[in-house]
This record gives sequence, C-alpha cells and structure tokens, in this order.
Amino acid sequence: MRLARVILLIMTTAMAAHATVTKTVFGTLPDGTAVDLYTLKSDAVEARIMTYGARIVSIQSADRDGTMGNVTLGYSAFDGYVADPSTYFGAVVGRYGNRIANGEFKIDGHDYHVPINNNGQSLHGGLIGFDKLVWQAHPIAGGVEMTLVSKDGDQGYPGTLTAHVRYSLHHNALRIDYSYSTDKTTVVNLTNHTYFNLAGSGTVLGHEVTLSSDQYTPTNKVLIPTGELPTVEGTPFDFRKATTIGARIGADNEQLKIAGGYDHNWVLRGHNGEVKTAARVYEPVSGRGLTVTTTEPGVQFYSGNFLDGAKFGKAGESHAKNTGFCLETQHYPDSPNHPAFPTTLLKPGETKHSMTTFTFSTHAK
Ligand code: BGC
Repeated sequence: MRLARVILLIMTTAMAAHATVTKTVFGTLPDGTAVDLYTLKSDAVEARIMTYGARIVSIQSADRDGTMGNVTLGYSAFDGYVADPSTYFGAVVGRYGNRIANGEFKIDGHDYHVPINNNGQSLHGGLIGFDKLVWQAHPIAGGVEMTLVSKDGDQGYPGTLTAHVRYSLHHNALRIDYSYSTDKTTVVNLTNHTYFNLAGSGTVLGHEVTLSSDQYTPTNKVLIPTGELPTVEGTPFDFRKATTIGARIGADNEQLKIAGGYDHNWVLRGHNGEVKTAARVYEPVSGRGLTVTTTEPGVQFYSGNFLDGAKFGKAGESHAKNTGFCLETQHYPDSPNHPAFPTTLLKPGETKHSMTTFTFSTHAK
C-alpha cells in the first residue's frame, strides 16, 4: 500500500515536472540585433525556438526504436533563415497568415492596401511579415513567451497590434497559445508554419494523413478561395480516412494542378472555438505519429510543393519538393474579403486567443 502510494507520487511528480528551458544566442542580424534560441526539453521531446520570427528551429522526437531525430525542416545555422525569404520555415506568420486577394480589403468602408509578394496577392503578412522580425522573449514554466508589437500602419495594416505567442512543452506535446489585441480595428490571422517530416529525411509522400474535415476551400489560379465550400467526397481532398500524401497528389484534378499538389485550406468539422483534433499523421517506416489539435476553424495542409532545393546560408542545406508538409491551423485564406467565412476582424478592447498543439507519438509495426 505504502509502496503504491510512493510510486503514484513519483509518477505524478514526473508528469507535472515542467520541461527545462535554456537560452543561448543563435545568431546576429546584419544590423547587429542578437537572436536568442530557447531550448525546451521534456522527458520525450526537445524543441528549439528562436526569437527571429518566433520560429521553431527543430523538434527532436523518438522513432519506434527510441532513436531521437529532428522532424522539422530548417537550417543548422542562423544565416540560412535570413537568406531564405520564401519558405517561412518554422515561423509564426502574420499579421495575416496566408493570402489576401490583390493585397486589398475594406474595414468600415475604408480601403487598405498591403504588400503584394506572391503572384499579385499578399502572402503571410507582406514583405516584412512577423516571420522576419525579432520578437521579445522571456521564459515561462516549461516554455517561452514571445511578444511582438506591430505598429499602426505596419505593412499597411491598421492598428497597433500586440501579439503574444507562448510555446510550452508538456511531455510529448508542444502547445502554442496565441493572444492578440489592437488599438484600432484590424484583421489578424496568426499561425505557425513548421514543415514536418516524421521520417527525418526523404519525401513525405508516404506519410498517412487524416483530416477532421468534410469540406475545403477551392481556389482560383492564384490560390485565392472562390468562396465555395464543397464536400471532399469523391475528390483527392478526402482525408477523412488515413491516406498517404502521395496516393492522389498527381491525380488529374484542376485544384491539385493549380497548386502543384496540396496547398489548400480544409474546413474543420464542428468548429466552435473549443479545442478539437484537426489532423493525425503517421509515418510507417519510423513509426512516428503527430496529432494536431486546435481551436481554429481551418487548417492549411501544404505538401511543400514550392520547395525547390535552393541552398541558403553558409551550411548550404537544401530542401527539395515534397520533403516537408505544413499543417497551418488558421482562419480561412482571404477571410477579410469573404464575409461568410469566420471573421478575422479584431476590434479595440478585445483580446483574442487561439491554441494549437503538436503531439508526438510512436507506434508499433
Ligand atoms: C502557402 C504556400 C506557400 C508556402 C510558403 C503556405 O502557407 O499556402 O502557397 O508557398 O506557405 O511560402
């Protein structure tokens, strides 16, 4: 009896133990600003997060044999990130993650113009989005909180936006809490742009994906949603049952051709602001699994179609097409121009919150 109680005490203490958090310098921007790297380490996972773009630099998790390996794409040296303007590896993207048609929207009858940086559209907040800024950081229990103040007019967006992103590690789960407020009505869509590869290398085409979604947002030729929310039934967008990314990626389908693969927003089933499972991924060779939960209404599932093997930085690493996938929990793309989509408007006096978790697991053969 006494032994059982001692064992229980040890177990609960171990479960409650916070991940350790250590801080080092990762690099320096050309203007001399130091970029810090926070390492969060639990009994199961090690996540490294830097202040440049509040980016996840790496996540180490075990495969089914217990061997730890990095399951995200990135660069071993800081200069790789600065030299690479377009992959958004690991970053928090904003102020408006994903696309805004023609870089234009209206708030209260007022026209706003934000930078065009992708096929005539605005992508991930503009030319200098949140991914390219150095966030203020301080350690919290088992994690790190990053803060960014984006001034009124930053990249053309109205209102001074204060954004807090808290990363915390709980055993095998990395949790991301976002909260943000403004002093003038604006639009906000924050997400994390980590590319995962649960095998640690090679393409992700053999990863099995399940999405909690019955509908998606098809796009026009420049990846702006048409506004329709068709069923996934009978299309290569049906991931209601676990299916490999590669099974239908080359299918004769107009939407897949436009994006060169998957690069679409799925409508998450039963969205009501509570935390729900958005996606599950399983990689059969390593035995690694990933579960994504979120309070957000959508998820952009991107199969790394535009990775082109370009080399960035002194270490000279390159990342080829389809070697990583993203599950960007978010509001739908171009919501400011689609009143029927869940709103991305943020008004003065309100603080909005959202939460996403990435949980890593292993599975026997
Ligand atoms: C977009 C892609 C884009 C990628 C990286 C994703 O969120 O949907 O179209 O290429 O980000 O730039």
